[in-house]
Amino acid sequence: MQERITTRADERMTTTGLRESAPRSLRVHHTERVTPQVLLVELRDLDGEDLPPYEPGAHIDVHLPDGAVRSYSLCGDPADRSAYRIAVLNHPGGRGSRFIHGDLRLGTTVTVAPPRNNFRFDAAPRTLFIAGGIGITPLLPMIRAASRRGADWVLHYCVRSAVEAPFLAELRALGNGAVVVHAADEGRRLAVADLMAATSDDTLVYCCGPQRLMDGVASAARPSQDVRFEWFTPRADAGRDATPDDRFEVVCARSGVTVAVTEGVSVLNALDAAGVSVDSSCEQGICGTCETAVLEGEPDHRDSVLSDAERAAGKTMMICVSRARSARLVLDV
Ligand code: FES
Repeated sequence: MQERITTRADERMTTTGLRESAPRSLRVHHTERVTPQVLLVELRDLDGEDLPPYEPGAHIDVHLPDGAVRSYSLCGDPADRSAYRIAVLNHPGGRGSRFIHGDLRLGTTVTVAPPRNNFRFDAAPRTLFIAGGIGITPLLPMIRAASRRGADWVLHYCVRSAVEAPFLAELRALGNGAVVVHAADEGRRLAVADLMAATSDDTLVYCCGPQRLMDGVASAARPSQDVRFEWFTPRADAGRDATPDDRFEVVCARSGVTVAVTEGVSVLNALDAAGVSVDSSCEQGICGTCETAVLEGEPDHRDSVLSDAERAAGKTMMICVSRARSARLVLDV
């Protein structure tokens, strides 16, 4: 996964209602350069204990020594509870990239928050995966799972060149599916609109990669298609249903505090100013850390995490960006 900017993360309620535990220290057990620019890092518990479980599509937040936090998809085997594996692209200017490529050594201890999953993998008879570069990382465990289940899958893998395509040999060796590489240096670019037009409605589509690729897939998809994304930056249509930024009231059911959220102020910041702390990370509506249960009222969703069905259900909202359609929201905080 590419780096996502985060500021803090510890304990939070997941979309499944499970409460996760605080960050823990893990040790770098193994590193391996899988392409000239991508470093695979394996992290293990200091005492060799099993790590919290995760599902394909999950990511972890790595706390950097300077206090920043970066999220990376888990690309290992979820059945292996002994280790978390991440693959990190070396890109200029990235603080997480600089730390992981420049400072990590075997035995280095890093602080890692437990896995979180905004990119759930469901079994389907047919699955189409669309990856761009390092965007392959959350898809890799999904593709392995689809292959093991004997499901029919195809991966369209967009890369600058085949030698810079992480995990390509492993992907090609997996059964029941096909890997189609679109290497820019060979002039093979993916025709996104044609691919989506040729994809049947009973095919589940997973996409992760650069913004331009994901925006292209999102705009080419039919409403009847089930397409799931892992966003690194807010999706272009995140506020597609947004209403004007009017003032509204938020009642915090558990803490008993009521705050007014005014124009230009997020729910997250309004609560914080009133002394109600909710964990946050990206503050752009892309990581899911601030997801909060809605007990009453109608959210005005502006995030890139919830599906259309989850938006319509209105049971949770990302309070760093989303607001209210109703004059009052009651939140489970
Ligand atoms: S803090 Fe990342 S979605 Fe709100």
